[in-house]
Amino acid sequence: RAQWRGIIEEYRDRLPIGADTAPVTLREGGTPLVPAQVLSELTGCDVHLKVEGANPTGSFKDRGMTMAITKAKENGAQAVICASTGNTSASAAAYAVRAGMVCAVLVPQGKIALGKMGQALVHGAEILQVEGNFDDCLSLARGLSEKYPVALVNSVNPVRIEGQKTAAFEIVDMLGDAPDIHVLPVGNAGNITAYWKGYGEYADAAIASRTPRMWGFQASGAAPIVRGEAVKDPSTIATAIRIGNPASWTLAEQARDESGGLIEAVTDRQILRAYRLLAAQEGVFVEPASAASVAGLLQATEEGKVDPGQRIVCTVTGNGLKDPDWAVAGAPQPVTVPVDADAAARRLGLV
Ligand code: F0G
Repeated sequence: RAQWRGIIEEYRDRLPIGADTAPVTLREGGTPLVPAQVLSELTGCDVHLKVEGANPTGSFKDRGMTMAITKAKENGAQAVICASTGNTSASAAAYAVRAGMVCAVLVPQGKIALGKMGQALVHGAEILQVEGNFDDCLSLARGLSEKYPVALVNSVNPVRIEGQKTAAFEIVDMLGDAPDIHVLPVGNAGNITAYWKGYGEYADAAIASRTPRMWGFQASGAAPIVRGEAVKDPSTIATAIRIGNPASWTLAEQARDESGGLIEAVTDRQILRAYRLLAAQEGVFVEPASAASVAGLLQATEEGKVDPGQRIVCTVTGNGLKDPDWAVAGAPQPVTVPVDADAAARRLGLV
């Protein structure tokens, strides 16, 4: 059987890319759409998880990065730069390796998960830890790309959004139509913009009969869109979405309004509860930011906003191994046993 070829080959006719352009790819996309049994019971709906942590570098960023790095290479760029809360930098670093390019990443000092830092390091990226937050990193990266010969691969680069919209295509291709509601975490707001574009294009092409309502969730300490003003000192344990002034703010509001959706906030406590539920009851290990989508769905259910019988897709954006500290924190210590079957059986309660 032929393997999945990556999003550019699978969806080339729907992407702004030449027929002959050779993709820089790690065969990203084609991720699992997993039926969520417990969430379906809790909501009375048909809930699915789009497991984006199954991408090559462990997050949805690979969909946009294959496009951004392919384009940068085609344009003769020798170096790329990005600001990141961790996943974009991990992805850029890996794809830059495939393209033979130098990759520079700007990350907020002390505020990115260890797994993501490890990825950027092992892929050989130039890492600058900035004494500021993500928003500071992004304005720095923008300034550098304007003054120096280095291509910006953040989602302000429109081809990133083009690549990320393919997740919506895959969902419709798998379900046979668009869901009623699509739920996702919101940070810099590129992904909600991308899904809305993808769903819209499939509806325009009559591949889907409708578009879903887009439901976005920010962390309550980093919820500028919900509050209607930039947050100077964003704070949340979900470091991936610790962003106070999202680049795609207006486009996210457009996705919300055109789809009849909503963008609301969930607390860190709700995020961690959803994070544990996903791992312990659905068998899906995600990073905390990813659980904001599920936390939001549960909140909306409690508020009576979820009519039963609907089809709902939640994107879980990144792999749990990115940030394992939260899995270990607060969990009981594993017990130690000698190399002895009886002792092991006793500890397991088998005798
Ligand atoms: N979930 C994860 C795991 C992320 O890494 C991000 C963004 C988001 C959700 C939010 O997506 O920004 O498109 O609204 N991470 C960026 C980064 C900011 O630098 O890796 P968004």
